[in-house]
Amino acid sequence: FGHAIHYVESVDSTQWLAHQGVRSGAKEGALFLADEQTQGRGRMGRKWHSPPRSGIWMSLLLQPQIPLNLAPQLTLMASVGVTRAIRRETGLPVTIKWPNDLLIDGKKVCGILTELRGEQDQIHYVVLGIGMNVNTPAASFPEDLKTIATSLAAESGRTYRRAKLIAAILEELEHVYDLYLTEGFEPIRHSWESFACMLGQSVTAHTPQGPRQGIARGLHASGALLLETDEGVVVPVYSADIRQV
Ligand code: BTN
Repeated sequence: FGHAIHYVESVDSTQWLAHQGVRSGAKEGALFLADEQTQGRGRMGRKWHSPPRSGIWMSLLLQPQIPLNLAPQLTLMASVGVTRAIRRETGLPVTIKWPNDLLIDGKKVCGILTELRGEQDQIHYVVLGIGMNVNTPAASFPEDLKTIATSLAAESGRTYRRAKLIAAILEELEHVYDLYLTEGFEPIRHSWESFACMLGQSVTAHTPQGPRQGIARGLHASGALLLETDEGVVVPVYSADIRQV
């Protein structure tokens, strides 16, 4: 990964750069990177705060030969790879909040956004967007993010070289991707569970159909979170915001 790197100083979103890149012939493993995003995108139509040089804003192109319905596994795979890279480079206790928010001390340090194009049942390509708050001072987060976001520097009192982190992320992602393609999702699912926060705890899942209460039990191969309800039934949750009770 990262054998081809397309860097720009500022862009609306590196996701857009990557989609453009595919049209210009970019291949699997190509990386699209910016120092600043003016319209960084988050999941569920949210914005992603991406100020100049304070974080890693990048998108990686993947072209796995897997059916479309397995795409959620790729995002979970990515959260495992990125968690490993941060732990390795910083020693900070990063955990994963389902499905793929990376937290330190309950605050979000990194988000992952996958966008895919495909037809019929086959994936054409996947753009894996990674946004990581690296050297952002705690005080400089916008008011609405201050209580929910953090950065590696804010947590450790150190600053980090972004290039070194990026190299580690690419290395770990390549490793989990190879593992996924050769051995399937099971080893990834296992690692994901070992990094997950909230497993065994009471949570509320705010789903599009309304809130659901239960104990987070694990990850299903479909990518769903397994929730044990008060009646003792384990149900899969496919789309929700999870909060600890
Ligand atoms: C989330 O909502 O948690 C996902 C955030 C993903 C942000 C990254 S930054 C690089 C890439 N470009 C974007 O516009 N978004 C992703």
